[in-house]
Amino acid sequence: MDIAEQQVGEITIVEVKGRIDSNTAKAFGERLTKLINASRGGTRIEPWISPEGYRRVPALADIAENLDRYPEKNEGGGIDHQSPLALFNRMIHPLIPFAIRGLLWYQGEQNRTEGMVYRDKMQALIEGWRAVWNQACASCHSIESPLIGQVTSVADVGTDPQRLNSFTPELARSMNTIGEGKPWRFSHFRKTDGYANMPLDGLWLRAPFLHNGSVPTLRALLYPDERPAVFYRSYDVYDWTNVGFVATGAEAEASGVRFDTSLKGNSNAGHTYGATLSREQRELLLEYLKTL
Ligand code: HEC
Repeated sequence: MDIAEQQVGEITIVEVKGRIDSNTAKAFGERLTKLINASRGGTRIEPWISPEGYRRVPALADIAENLDRYPEKNEGGGIDHQSPLALFNRMIHPLIPFAIRGLLWYQGEQNRTEGMVYRDKMQALIEGWRAVWNQACASCHSIESPLIGQVTSVADVGTDPQRLNSFTPELARSMNTIGEGKPWRFSHFRKTDGYANMPLDGLWLRAPFLHNGSVPTLRALLYPDERPAVFYRSYDVYDWTNVGFVATGAEAEASGVRFDTSLKGNSNAGHTYGATLSREQRELLLEYLKTL
């Protein structure tokens, strides 16, 4: 086994080539090729928990309410590395852009006398880290997320409501009568309040996007202000820069079908989740989405 180590500040990135002999790493999966070591000996759990984690666990409300004061420097001019956020901010937050598969947590003895309170802190650590890694897209679209296949309400996703409204409870009931008396009869149609979170496999070929095909490219989906109000669908030349089919210009107009987003059912509003990311993050995300 070859190991190459690279030091970035206090974080060590370990690249493993060939077989992995460590049992811990084995438990993670033999195909794992990169480990990032972000650790510091003799620390408590508090400095590693994210702000989101503290806010999610009611038993830790007193810490959650005082988060603003922890990163302040002490009399010696330094930040106390055992206080909340100190190590999260410095050693975990910089890792958020990495596509991390899993985390190994080893807790030493510093919190050993705390009993059940440690359980609450562990919950805050796990939920908080999950939240920061999943905040952008994976919480709804990763096949490992409990939300996959579940419905996001139209109030949250904000896309055109026409399709949802046209699927009435009566329609769901009558669709459940299809195949009555047969072993394969339909029975699972139901009225919901939104649209489903689906996996994003083969995404590049699924343009135009959203249930009504109202957004021609992935770039337009990630930059809501730049979504075109009118474009042309079904011209089959691909646009790899913007990730979707060519939807404007003379040729698209000649071979395509005009799509006007101001018509009923055609709105291109909503699903603005990408807008919280920086331009650079969105460009990286686009490259990643091309590979799905
Ligand atoms: C809160 C849940 C949620 C989050 C977070 C979320 N999405 Fe979605 N996404 C949805 C839902 C629901 C739809 C279907 C909406 C519709 O069709 O009206 C959707 C649709 C899509 C589609 C269209 C798929 C297709 O075949 O037309 C893409 C692409 C997409 N999301 C990418 C992303 C990306 C990239 C992010 C992160 C920047 C993201 N989503 C964040 C819930 C979410």
